[in-house]
Amino acid sequence: MAGTVILGAQWGDEGKGKITDLMADRMDLVARFAGGNNAGHTVVCGDDEFKLHLMPCGILYPHITTVIGNGVVINPRVLLEEMDGLQSRGISCANLKISCNAHLVMPYHLAFDQIGEQSLGSAKLGTTHRGIGPAYADKADRMGMRVQDLLDEKIFKAKLEVSLERKNAVLTKAFGQDPFSVEEILTEYMAYAERLAPHIEDTSLLIHDALRDGRKVLFEGAQGTLLDLDHGTYPFVTSSSPTIGGVFTGTGVGPRDIEKIIGVAKAYVTRVGYGPFPTEQENEIGETMGARGVEFGTTTGRKRRCGWLDMVLLRYAVRVNSLTGIALTKLDVLSAFDRIKVCVGYSFQGKIFHELPPHQTIFHKCEPQYLELAGWNDDISEVTERDDLPEAARRYVEFVEQGAGVPVEMISVGPKRTQTIIKREEYRRPLEEGPYLYREDFEPPAGGVRD
Ligand code: IMP
Repeated sequence: MAGTVILGAQWGDEGKGKITDLMADRMDLVARFAGGNNAGHTVVCGDDEFKLHLMPCGILYPHITTVIGNGVVINPRVLLEEMDGLQSRGISCANLKISCNAHLVMPYHLAFDQIGEQSLGSAKLGTTHRGIGPAYADKADRMGMRVQDLLDEKIFKAKLEVSLERKNAVLTKAFGQDPFSVEEILTEYMAYAERLAPHIEDTSLLIHDALRDGRKVLFEGAQGTLLDLDHGTYPFVTSSSPTIGGVFTGTGVGPRDIEKIIGVAKAYVTRVGYGPFPTEQENEIGETMGARGVEFGTTTGRKRRCGWLDMVLLRYAVRVNSLTGIALTKLDVLSAFDRIKVCVGYSFQGKIFHELPPHQTIFHKCEPQYLELAGWNDDISEVTERDDLPEAARRYVEFVEQGAGVPVEMISVGPKRTQTIIKREEYRRPLEEGPYLYREDFEPPAGGVRD
């Protein structure tokens, strides 16, 4: 059982990229299991900043096999652009493996994403417009195009024809738009196929073999628990399963392959897009959080909504994901406040809820019940030991641990790798600045292999 999962415990953008990157250097294989290029991970390594959308963070380490699992929906144009961008910065993509069963985002998925949002008017979801929902809808409808279809032009064309017959009918008749051409898409995607073919594999088997051989595997989440299609704040969710179940369906491993499940949570909460958010602060507090935390989406550049930490939701994330620990990020952002509020329940029509209410209307209309904790005001961005945090900051972390019922295993106090408080014994390597990037003399850890 050498599998570790890192997933979002809130509405995405929790800082999973940094945490994944921190843990990745002692891994042999890193696999993404859900979402598509609606995701955005920012990884800061020394002076280098990487913005990854489809590519798992493991790609930054030459010894790691990087997997895009079957649960991911892949826009091949975006993936190839990302590969080109990384390669131009000296990072090899030779170790990238793409599941033959992953579904493709097609040009018409982007069109339908746009149409879907427009037709919802003021009830729109605020999607990332990357075609993610329509791609997953086609998958569930058994009309999807898969990565393996790229390997057989005849099959690809036949499937595309069937799909486009339906899509074009709706596009032209219901929405007065131009139809898509089979030939144009075929030519475009066959060019992608040529470049992607060497990377396409049965990645479920690959991960299984790695685990069997005692190699360390990290499952890298995208989005977050509250954006989960089943367990999130439906319909204001994404169309995949960023929760723990998504690891199994999205990569083809089983629960016994997993040892640790780390939920990444900000010390406050943010969300992009529409939907309920009880602790949202549409005031100076939220503005301060946004400014200090640089709360703009990596993918869309949209301003994120900000609010106090919600322990009801964090406990929910612990429960539905069976979390074994929490990585608490952006604690330094809270240094701005004299007093810090934490939501510990909701009130609705005289009733108190300590769990996520079973009806969305209650969640929409409830009043958060806050506890107020002392702030610390000190700059904590260079603190590297938990004991060196100001007392009020330590208390805040302990409060989160007690409320969540699982340990806070990592605390992030800034974007750099060095700005992290971790249980040292968990890590084999010292935390230097950007230490393992495309260096010629890089020595992989035991069990790792070089490109
Ligand atoms: P979609 O995934 O593009 O369909 O968007 C559905 C909802 O999920 C919208 O509210 C998006 O803002 C949100 N969403 C999707 N991906 C992310 C992410 O990586 N971080 C935060 N929110 C996301």
